[in-house]
Amino acid sequence: MSALLGLRTPGVHVHELDAVVVGAGGAGLYAALELKRDLGPEARVAVISKLYPSRSHTGAAQGGVCAALGNTEEDHWEWHWFDTVKGGDYLVDQDAAEVMCHDAVETIINLEHLGMPFNRTPEGLIDQRRFGGHTRNEGEAPVRRSCYAADRTGHAILQTLFQQCIKHGVTFYDEFQVVDLAMPLGPGGPVSGVVALQLASGEIHSFRARAVLLATGGFGKIFKVTSNAHTLTGDGVALAYRRGVPLEDMEMYQFHPTGMYRLGFLLSEAVRGEGGILLNGEGERFMERYAPTMKDLASRDVVSRAIYQEVAAGRGVNGEDYVHLDVRHLGSEILDRKLPDVTGFVRTYFKLEPLTDLIPIQPTAHYAMGGIPTDIDGRVQADERGTPVPGLFAAGECACVSVHGANRLGTNSLLDILVFGRRAGIAMAEHLRTAAPPAPDLAGEASVQAIVGGLLASREGERPAVIRAELQEVMFVKCGVYRTERLLTECRETVRELKRRAERLFVDDKGCRYNTDLSEALELGFLLECAEAAVASATARQESRGAHAREDYPERDDVKWLKHSFAFRDPAGGDPRLAYKPVTVTRFAPKPRTY
Ligand code: FUM
Repeated sequence: MSALLGLRTPGVHVHELDAVVVGAGGAGLYAALELKRDLGPEARVAVISKLYPSRSHTGAAQGGVCAALGNTEEDHWEWHWFDTVKGGDYLVDQDAAEVMCHDAVETIINLEHLGMPFNRTPEGLIDQRRFGGHTRNEGEAPVRRSCYAADRTGHAILQTLFQQCIKHGVTFYDEFQVVDLAMPLGPGGPVSGVVALQLASGEIHSFRARAVLLATGGFGKIFKVTSNAHTLTGDGVALAYRRGVPLEDMEMYQFHPTGMYRLGFLLSEAVRGEGGILLNGEGERFMERYAPTMKDLASRDVVSRAIYQEVAAGRGVNGEDYVHLDVRHLGSEILDRKLPDVTGFVRTYFKLEPLTDLIPIQPTAHYAMGGIPTDIDGRVQADERGTPVPGLFAAGECACVSVHGANRLGTNSLLDILVFGRRAGIAMAEHLRTAAPPAPDLAGEASVQAIVGGLLASREGERPAVIRAELQEVMFVKCGVYRTERLLTECRETVRELKRRAERLFVDDKGCRYNTDLSEALELGFLLECAEAAVASATARQESRGAHAREDYPERDDVKWLKHSFAFRDPAGGDPRLAYKPVTVTRFAPKPRTY
């Protein structure tokens, strides 16, 4: 084995490590921290990130992270558990959600002890605010459950965990784009590291390790209007899919109700948690008709669909495809102290004054409930029967545990990355205690060299940006908030055609330093894989559940569809194969869902 480990692919820089974490958001950082704390200073633990870590997308999460602390009013973790299951329209695996909601309380206290600067109550406790779908006593009324640091909660979490990783000696490889998973024996594993492109030099690096965590975030850039940053291109999701790992519940994609009109930037749900309301073009508070109890704080799928229905009924503002967010009554104390970023975005990008003006909003593609299937310790599953892929782990938005089912509740995402990032780190450390080093993937390293070399040598073909724009348009219009058989079939055909066209890309920039043209060509491939799996799973699911709203199948169908979808990539380039697995129901029998 050691002789094999000594082998080198010519022109590839090799790093011998114990564990590699891909992605420096909250899930990746927490896992890396736990690995070092568990294995000690000698452990060779590295975080590889496309970005400088503090630019990771966790930093864009605004409004809060939830836990039933009960600091400002009565709350119980079981109520949180129920809300999570109901919010997910019963597609949630209830045993996994139980772990998340139960562990939430300890997780927040741990985070506080790591240095997280939460907002405080006058008594000095962690303050809590309302968020959509979080209720007292299984739906009676909204409850204050989301702990927050103004509207920069994700940013504060990212800084806290990054500092802890530095303190504990985690090694960082910043601005490395991962291009392949090393799996020398093919599908099923084991995994033996990752192969990456160094953005600053254009050189190929092989990071060999016995445990790999994918924590690369979501794939919101498959849609035209999205709250996701330019870098959210589904890299880890697509890499796993290409290596034979199925993708779970990919049809379940969340649209956040309050994106800035046309720009898609997030205006936190905390705005409504603090008392903001939605108004249609007639100035009516329309959510009272759709969700009489929770109103503007119903779950996101309900509010986004309501906005679409208002627009379809001609009650958008000036007959257009947006409505208004009204915060004029909140006053500068709340806007400038508790919601400073949101307030600043509105002033900067719209040149509007939230204290006096109405804010134009539309639903924006925000969060993937589906992704790489894992157990509650981040172990990636090779099939619907739960067969593990040795050495491969996933956590955060790229993973599907599944705790969010068909629709995630606001502030459960930051909780997810903390609870399951930490658990994945602990499980990886356990794995490393016994796992033998697998052979390096020399063929994989050589193939990455060939792919990158081929793109740089391209003399003709299509520009990645053209295909990406067409993909984003078709996914937003035909696989968005409302879907039908006809729209999905058209979308599927377009995605298939775009995949074919993407086989001949033209990369104009031939340079080796920060070649964003090359990076975007690689990312386009990832986006197309994610879109293919999403639209295939959406076409097959003939019911409406959570974020998956089929106009031709408007009802939830628990008899046929209380099950998770698994999309397997066809290596020959055909449509994905679909398989299914029952949802785990332990405590809450599925009921009709009203807010
Ligand atoms: O609205 C927000 O602040 C977003 C939070 C989340 O997606 O959890």
